[in-house]
Parts: sequence; structure tokens; C-alpha cells
Amino acid sequence: MSFDSKIEAALNAQINNELNASYTYLAMAAYFESEDLPGFAAWFRGHAAEENDHAMKIFDFIYKRDGNVELNGIEKPKAKYGSAKDAVAYALAHEKIVTGQIHEIFSMCNSQKDFGTQNMLHWFLEEQVEEEDLFRRILAQVEATGGNKWYLTQLDNQLERGDTGETAK
Ligand SMILES: [Fe+2]
Ligand SMILES: [Fe+2]
Repeated sequence: MSFDSKIEAALNAQINNELNASYTYLAMAAYFESEDLPGFAAWFRGHAAEENDHAMKIFDFIYKRDGNVELNGIEKPKAKYGSAKDAVAYALAHEKIVTGQIHEIFSMCNSQKDFGTQNMLHWFLEEQVEEEDLFRRILAQVEATGGNKWYLTQLDNQLERGDTGETAK
């Protein structure tokens, strides 16, 4: 079965969405650097790299299906946040948007009977569950600081040591 052009277009759009997410998290890393919270900055920088890997997973898949990749422009990311809590809440909301985008393509695969692409997307479905869980945990920890700079610094140290409370995969 040939690669459906609608699915190909949706996957290309998702490459762009993942790169947008990457750029958004890189902007957050810059924000946290400016706030002297290097643990948060490193954490978001790591996530920016992960989102880039996600884009490349789809990039490679498109060529496996004998399709073509067409890269689009990336929007200027939001650079300023009122607080650490605002930034992390924005990141969690962003992950939920990405989950919705993956769900859209997944159901499009149903109607096109493209089960090969659907199978590939299972990895992304699982990843989104993990990501939302992780971001929600970090947000709860940031909220628990009540905006207290000393507590926030302790949390920052924790993130710098790589202790995020992430569920082992
Ligand atoms: Fe992603
Ligand atoms: Fe993500």
C-alpha cells in the first residue's frame, strides 16, 4: 500500500510541531539561565534535545515509507515568563497540545487504514503519557515552593542532579 499523501502531510506537520516544542524548551532554558536556576535550564535544554530526536524519528520514518520530508518555518518561541511556575505550566500545556496532535494523526491512520504508521505512533503515545506525567510532577514540586526563592533553589539543585522523580522506563 502506498504512503497516503494526507498522512505524509500530517507527519511533516508533526516534524514541525516537534521542532517547535524543541525551540520552546530551548527558550525556557534561556529564561531559567537568566533567572540563575541552572538545574531547570539544564533540564529544559535536555528536553529541547529530546524533541529534536522526536522530529528525527518521524523524518526517518517518512523516508522508510518512500515519502518526502518538507521542512517548514519555526515560530519565534515565547521567551518571557512571569515565574518558574508559569514556565513549567506553559510546558505542561504544550505537551498536552502535542498529545492532541499525535492523537489526530493516529485516528487519521485509522480512516486511511495506515496501520504501519499507526504502529510507529505507539511509541509517541507512550512517550506523551510519560512526558505529561513528568511535567505534572515538576509543576507540583514548583507549586510546593510557593514561589519561595530558597525552596526553588533547592529544587533547582535537585534537577541539576537529575533527580526528577521520573518513573523508570
Ligand atoms: Fe515530542
Ligand atoms: Fe515532549
